[in-house]
Amino acid sequence: MYQLPSPSAIRSLDAIGVLTSGGDAPGMNAAIRALVRTALNQGIKVYGIHRGYSGLLSDDMRRLYSGSVSNIIQRGGTILKSNRCEAFKDPLMRSQAAEVLKTNGIQALVCIGGDGTLTGAHWLACEHDIAVIGVPCTIDNDIHGTDDSIGFDTAVNTALGAIDRIRDTALSHERLFLVEVMGRDSGFLATQVGIACGAEMTLIPERKVDIGAIASTLASARRKGHGSSGIIVVAEGAEPGLTVRLADRLRQCGEEPRICILGHIQRGGSPSAHDRVLASCMGATAVNYLLAGSSDIMVAAVGRDLIAAPLADIIGRRKHDPRLYDLVMQLHK
Ligand code: F6P
Repeated sequence: MYQLPSPSAIRSLDAIGVLTSGGDAPGMNAAIRALVRTALNQGIKVYGIHRGYSGLLSDDMRRLYSGSVSNIIQRGGTILKSNRCEAFKDPLMRSQAAEVLKTNGIQALVCIGGDGTLTGAHWLACEHDIAVIGVPCTIDNDIHGTDDSIGFDTAVNTALGAIDRIRDTALSHERLFLVEVMGRDSGFLATQVGIACGAEMTLIPERKVDIGAIASTLASARRKGHGSSGIIVVAEGAEPGLTVRLADRLRQCGEEPRICILGHIQRGGSPSAHDRVLASCMGATAVNYLLAGSSDIMVAAVGRDLIAAPLADIIGRRKHDPRLYDLVMQLHK
């Protein structure tokens, strides 16, 4: 499925660390598994750091062996636990983290997570003599420089399964449903879900939302006998409180909309085959890049290739796909 790079090994490593940080995503375990087994095959010890950067600061880690990652490829979540660590924004804390790694004889670190995780990885790599590699893993798929991120495919399919069920009851009761999906301030998840479920309307942060116009379009379609039911996918980041305000407005037009907020359901569950394979490719590639002497890079999926993308080019940039946003809008009735 992906073309794996084969960078030449130019350095030997005694021990590396791995952590998962930020919002968990299905496939994190598959990435850990691939990384651990690839490293062990190269004679490298692996330390699993618990609770992301917080565990790094408090020296909370354990050795991982081949058996430690048995029977986890199919499990959602992360065996290493995850959190968001505000303290890591402080350079003094990052010096402490570097000290912890050195004291444990760990020469390199792989950070699996989203935007915040990769930013932390970049800071650490720039400020200290530690090789750091990022692996993109978020259901939001909002990371610049990579077409795909681990967990996105599963989250899209999870939302789709829920919406297909909602559509059954929407059709039976001839109702409009506003289904809110995650994605933080990005509309990638909503766009993909909107296209795949055949949404009557998809509202995303990247496109201006006019509640009045939307409500009257939906209500007038209904009066003309079109669209007796419908699914409106709302990205959680489209506008604060948009889902509830739109429902209120629709009620004023005589509709009886229902709201369904999918929330963290989208983050859990067994990873799809796509995410398991992507995570396995990326986890193994991260080790190979470390052996090739790389640091301060992210393993990125570009087209059908996995490449090394400099973290400096990724941090703080927004990913956009206007043609995909146009497509979802064109497919509305
Ligand atoms: O970044 C992943 C994500 O699930 C976003 O889609 C969502 O906005 C956020 O995390 C929720 O974070 P938390 O679980 O900390 O509430």
